[in-house]
Parts: sequence; C-alpha cells; structure tokens
Amino acid sequence: MTTVLAIETSCDETAAAVVRDGRELLSSVVSSQIALHQPSGGVVPEIAARAHLEQLPTVVAQALEVLPGGLDDIDGIAVTRGPGLIGCLLVGTSYAQALAAARDLPIVGVSHLAGHVYSAWLADVTLEPPFCALVVSGGHSECVVIEAHGRAREISATRDDAAGEAYDKAARLMGLPYPGGPVIDALAKEGDMSRFRLPITRLEDGLSFSGLKTAVRYLIRDLPSGSFDDQGQLAPQLARDIAASFQHAVITQLGEALERAIDASGAPAVALVGGVAANSGLRAEVKRRCEGLQVAIPPMALCTDNAAMIGAAGWNRVAVHGWDAHAFDADPSVREFA
Ligand code: KG4
Ligand code: ZN
Repeated sequence: MTTVLAIETSCDETAAAVVRDGRELLSSVVSSQIALHQPSGGVVPEIAARAHLEQLPTVVAQALEVLPGGLDDIDGIAVTRGPGLIGCLLVGTSYAQALAAARDLPIVGVSHLAGHVYSAWLADVTLEPPFCALVVSGGHSECVVIEAHGRAREISATRDDAAGEAYDKAARLMGLPYPGGPVIDALAKEGDMSRFRLPITRLEDGLSFSGLKTAVRYLIRDLPSGSFDDQGQLAPQLARDIAASFQHAVITQLGEALERAIDASGAPAVALVGGVAANSGLRAEVKRRCEGLQVAIPPMALCTDNAAMIGAAGWNRVAVHGWDAHAFDADPSVREFA
C-alpha cells in the first residue's frame, strides 16, 4: 500500500491531494485564484506564483487532515514539474523537494498533461490503456492515444490557441468575465447556434482556434449599433446566440479530431479530460460521436486543475520509471501524456 501526497501549482489553482495506490482518493483540496485574476481577465504569472506561496502550506495541511498520522502516514510525494508557468511550478517543486528531503520521502515529478489524462483513469476504475484522450484545457488542446502506461502517441496538437484559451478570449471580446468557458457554456444552452456561421477549422493533424477567435472579433465589431447597452453589455439574446454559435464551432472541431484519433488507433475507449471537458456541449458531443465505445469523462472537480490527478499519474509513472532523484528541475515545456 502506497500513500502519496500530491501537489499541483502549475497555473492558477493551488492544490494538494492524498491518493492511495493510484486510484483511491482520500482527500483533494483546491484553492482557486480565479477571483484574484478576474480584474485582469487572465492569469497574471507573478500574482499567481505569490498566491501559491501563501496558500500551499494551508492546502497541504488540509489535505493531510484525512490521515491519522498526517505526514507520518505518507510514503511518497508527487508534484507537477510542467508544463505551466515557471514561477508557479517553482513554488510547487521547491516545496515538494524540500519536504521530501526533510522527511526522507521519495519524490516523483509529474507532467501536468499526464495528470489530466489520468484524471479519467482515476475517475473510472475500469479504464485501462489503450484509450484515446482528448486533452482540452486553458493551455492545451491535444488528441493522443495512450498505448500503455508510460507510452503515448500524439495524433493532433494545438497549432495556436488552446480550446480553453479560445473560450477565455471570446468571452473577453463579448464583455464577459474570466474564465470564459463556464459563462459561454451557460449562455450557449439558451442560444441559437445557427444564427451566426462561424468557421469550423479542419486540419489533418492539428487543432486551431485562432481563425475562430478572429471571426468572433469581426462579428462583434460589425454588430449594428444598439447591440450593446450603456454598460457595454451585449443584448442578452445576442450574447446567447453568439455563445451557441461559437461553442458549436469549437465542439465540432474537437469532435472530428477525436473521431480521427479513434479511427487511426482502433482504441476501444475514450477519455475526455482537462478544464474544457467540464463543457456540457462537448460532453454531449463526445458521447454522441463515441457510441459503442467506453467513454470516461471525469466529474467536474477532476476536470479543472487538481492534485488528485497528479497523484494518479505519479503513481503510474513510478510503476514504469521508478521514483526520481531528489533534485529535479521544473520544466515548463514537458510534453508527456502518460
Ligand atoms: O485545465 P484547466 O483548469 O487549467 C489549465 O490547465 O489550463 O482549464 C482551464 C480552462 C479555462 O480556459 C476555462 O475557461 C476552461 O478551462 N473551462 C471551460 C469550462 N469550464 C472551464 N471551457 C468550456 N466550458 C466549460 N464549462
Ligand atoms: Zn490543467
């Protein structure tokens, strides 16, 4: 029995979790910085790193409350080493390495992307490789095949803006608050997606959302006068229809990419992971396109950034590669999915 303390600080959530043998989630604590970054409409790296520094000891202490012996009951530490914002990653990796050294515990550095992939493996105990994973977050949109634990093949990768980034930028253009994904998702439910024809990008081996973002910018620029009220807010039905048309373009592109990955790999199972996997339209689209396959979509709390997924991915990484040396670098450009 291995009980792991997992730590995640790659972007704007300070998170810690206790995970036993990879799949038994004992606790998961997430302190979100959303309110802190809302005034600037996006994550400010320096502010994020400082907030991690302030929050991490409390978040770790809360996660450990579930164990009678606290830290004494921990057998190893898993920490996100990248990708992410370097200042934020350094807070988590330095804290974890210092803790491991002080308590003589083994440590493993984990890819945040593998973390998202393994959130599905954690949530669905019947999911095992091979499976296709659509990883859609604020920083990434990738379609990969997990061939085995420790072995992944990329099918489509982000060429420009990631899916979540596209949601956040479109929301900003529409005068909506950050993060844009949940707000657009809610508006889209009551909107008419056929009112505006926004471009659906179709690339053989990539994903791209910058053309769509530009189309939203021009659509809003060219709206007739009277479309905005005195406070600069879009007329309610107009906002819903733009949101629905935008969401349709995003989820169609993602759904088609996932289908290509399934065709290319023949994998019998699919995982939809990352912050954008919380999107209700995308969840429905993936289920519709993957009928007859096993579909694993984690609950909302495991879709957005959390440390439980880092514990699950870390446990599998240790099973394949063993624990890391005590000192390793944070690396913002890690591209490991398994
Ligand atoms: O995975 P995540 O928490 O952080 C990163 O690793 O980037 O993803 C955050 C992203 C944000 O861009 C946010 O707008 C998006 O996930 N998001 C959503 C929804 N909930 C969060 N996008 C679309 N629909 C949602 N319901
Ligand atoms: Zn993430």
